[in-house]
Amino acid sequence: MTDFKSLRAELLSEIEAVKDLDGLERLRVASLGKKGKITEGMKALGKLDPEERRAQGAALNALKEEATQAIAARTRFFKDLALNARLLEERFDMTLPSRPEREGRIHPISQTMDELLQIFGAMGFAVAEGPDVEDDFHNFAALNIPPEHPARQMHDTFYFPPDAKGERKVLRTHTSPVQIRTMQTTKPPIRIIAPGRTYRRDSDITHTPMFHQIEGLLIDRKTHMGHLKGCLIDFCRAFFELDDVPLRFRPSFFPFTEPSAEVDIGCERRKGEIRVGGGADWLEILGCGMVHPKVLANCGIDPDIYQGFAFGLGVERVAMLKYGIPDLRTFFEADLRWMHHYGFLPLDVPRSAQGGAL
Ligand code: PHE
Repeated sequence: MTDFKSLRAELLSEIEAVKDLDGLERLRVASLGKKGKITEGMKALGKLDPEERRAQGAALNALKEEATQAIAARTRFFKDLALNARLLEERFDMTLPSRPEREGRIHPISQTMDELLQIFGAMGFAVAEGPDVEDDFHNFAALNIPPEHPARQMHDTFYFPPDAKGERKVLRTHTSPVQIRTMQTTKPPIRIIAPGRTYRRDSDITHTPMFHQIEGLLIDRKTHMGHLKGCLIDFCRAFFELDDVPLRFRPSFFPFTEPSAEVDIGCERRKGEIRVGGGADWLEILGCGMVHPKVLANCGIDPDIYQGFAFGLGVERVAMLKYGIPDLRTFFEADLRWMHHYGFLPLDVPRSAQGGAL
C-alpha cells in the first residue's frame, strides 16, 4: 500500500511556504489539477484490487479534502493581505469638502417646496395629493364652476380629446381639485396642504405653461377670515424670514370661495433683481377665501355646521421673491449655469426650515 504520509507532509508544508496567490495557484494545479499528484493517485486506484482500492481511496480523498481546505485558507489569507494593503494605500479623509465644480445643485423649486412643507407642517397641516390629469368635475364643477361659467375663461385650460362618453379630461389648472378629493374622503376637521404641478396655456415673464402651486384647506366648526389672515401672515413671516412683511389682502373673486381675496407682497424690482420688502411694486402670490357653502355641500359637508378657508399659493412666485430670481421662465430652461447660480447645495438648510422660526 502506498503511503500518503510523505505526500501529505510535502504538500502541506509547500502550501504553508508559498509566497503569493500565483504560487498557490501553481501548487493547486500540481496537486489537484488534471495532472496533479493527487489526481494521478486517484487514477491509479483502478489498477488495485478492491480491498486495497477502498483503503487507499479513502486516504486519498481525505488528503484531497485537507489540501483543498488548506489552499482555500491560504487564498483567504493572501486576499485579506492584499485588501488591507489597498485600504491603507487608498485611505482618504471624508471630512474634506468636495470639489465645488463637481457638485450638483438642488433646483430652487424643490428647495422652496421643502421649505413650504416644513412651515405648514409645523402649523399642523398634513400633505394631500391628487392627479395631474383631472376630470371636469374635480377641476371645475365641484368647485362651483359649472359649464359655460365665465370663470372657466380665467383658466386657459389644456384639454384632452374627448373619451368614448364625450368627456374631456384636463391638465389641472390649479391644485384646488385636491380640496374636493380631500373633502369627499375625509370627515372634518380637515387641515391639509396639497403641493403639485398645475398647467395653463400661458407664457410670459410671470407665467409658464407648467408651474407649481400649494393648496391649503382648513375646515372646522368655527373658522373665520381672521384665521385665514393670521395663518397667511404667519406663513409669510416664517418663509421670508422677516418680522414685518408688506402684505396686501385685495378683495377678489373665485367661484369656490366667498368672500375671496388675493394677496400681494410688497417688493422692489431693481436692475433685473426682485426683492421682498420696501419698494413700490406689488407681486401677487396667492388667492384665498372662505370655502363657498356650495362647495362644502358638493362634497357632502354640512355648511350649517362647518366653515373653512382655502388658499392657493404660486410656488415659483414666492421662490422668485425670496431668492431674487427675476424671470419665471428661467426655472424651466434647464440651464446649468442658472442652476449653479440659483440652485442650492444639498446641505443648505434655510433658517425658516430649521424649526423654531414659528
Ligand atoms: N385655485 C385658485 C387659482 O389657482 C387659487 C385659490 C385657491 C383661490 C384656493 C382661493 C382658494 O387661481
